[in-house]
Amino acid sequence: MEVKKKHGFTGSIGFVLAAAGSAVGVGNIWRFPYLVARDGGGLFILVYLVLVLTFGFVLLTTDIAIGRKTGKNAWDAFQSIVPKWGFLGKLTFLVPTLIMTYYCVIGGWILKYAFVFLSGQGQIAANDGYFTQFIQNPISPIFFMLVFLIITSIIVYKGVEKGVEKFSRYVMPILLVIIVGIALYSLTLSYTDASGVTRTGIQGLAVYLIPQFEGLTISKFLNIVLDAMSQLFFSLSVSMGIMITYGSYVKKDVNLNKSIAQIEFFDTSVALIAGAMIIPSVFVFTGIDGMAQGPSLMFVSLPKVFASMGIAGPIVGLLFFVMILFAAFTSSVSIMETLVANCMNIFDKNRKQMSLVICLYSLVAAIIICLGYNVFYFECTLPNGVVGQLLDIADYISNSFLMPLISFLTAIFIGYIVKPQWIIEEIEQDGVKFKRKKSSFPPKRVNEFNK
Ligand code: PFF
Repeated sequence: MEVKKKHGFTGSIGFVLAAAGSAVGVGNIWRFPYLVARDGGGLFILVYLVLVLTFGFVLLTTDIAIGRKTGKNAWDAFQSIVPKWGFLGKLTFLVPTLIMTYYCVIGGWILKYAFVFLSGQGQIAANDGYFTQFIQNPISPIFFMLVFLIITSIIVYKGVEKGVEKFSRYVMPILLVIIVGIALYSLTLSYTDASGVTRTGIQGLAVYLIPQFEGLTISKFLNIVLDAMSQLFFSLSVSMGIMITYGSYVKKDVNLNKSIAQIEFFDTSVALIAGAMIIPSVFVFTGIDGMAQGPSLMFVSLPKVFASMGIAGPIVGLLFFVMILFAAFTSSVSIMETLVANCMNIFDKNRKQMSLVICLYSLVAAIIICLGYNVFYFECTLPNGVVGQLLDIADYISNSFLMPLISFLTAIFIGYIVKPQWIIEEIEQDGVKFKRKKSSFPPKRVNEFNK
């Protein structure tokens, strides 16, 4: 396949870094902590970990194996295996199409905060109401989103390995060191509020890690499971065709067993540490009442942590927002890359033309999302009871509706139509046994697809 030859990864490390670059992004550092906080802490983590080790592993393995075996993007991959199931490839394409619209809005928010800290105004960002004022401004969020989107488009136009591999290699380890450092610092925090109640970071850590079953109802538990599942899809970039595209760039001698375990481990570790960085500090400064803030959580709580660090605060704050900005770029590049690569195939146009078209589409949609906080403001109650705006609606449709549907259909497709042996064979291409296959992919009778 054209794209594959042109953009193949240089080896196992290149693949793991690029896939981790796609997986690790604002989902881990912005989305995971606010869901954990909203859903009450420890129980969410427990459910999430169980899902990552079972569901997440199977879905990631399936996507990558489909990509490598067929050498095609999601759009064509399912069609090439069983023509009747071609619709599934088309369906997966809807997810990045939808996510792209709001991912660059969040990228813009991060860019704005990086600028605020760069201009030495980090202290102001710690004020109550700062974030709300910013997103309610009809111009500023659009401007920052635009800059974020243009940079993403330029990277995509230049091609996967040049754009993505180069960034991930240096950024990921630095990002990890910074969030571990901030997480440790958060544990040392202590704050006495106006009513004289003192809360500490260690108490916040307990809220974060210890599951609370008191007052748990079945419907609350199901909401936690759905939130954890939606986070899993979003965070691992599965069930949206992206990992199928990445799989199509991987050489046959790469040990997929090991690579998949590394991607999964890295992505989950970053999310868990990001939670340990944000939840204790939210608890310290705002108590349990402040935990349900939703998408604004990171932008409201972290500037307060940086402000409490004294002279080191502005530097740590700047470093943090610059690093997460890079992580957001590597993910947004992967979303746009999938859109562009698929559209190149579908419309038979070149990379330059398709990058431009996707950039324009994303721009229009992202402007509408930005205006959802001001000009088009309205409150919509989602099926999970959360009141949200346009961004939350797009997020809900892609993560809590489309992705569960796609993974369900993929499970039927692999489990009953092509049979798990098809995947197992691909994973064992490099000669290394697939150790987790018994529990995850019970091998079934070999059929005509196993050729
Ligand atoms: N997994 C990325 C994150 O956690 O930020 C987000 C993402 C990447 C979502 C690629 C969708 C996607 F297609």
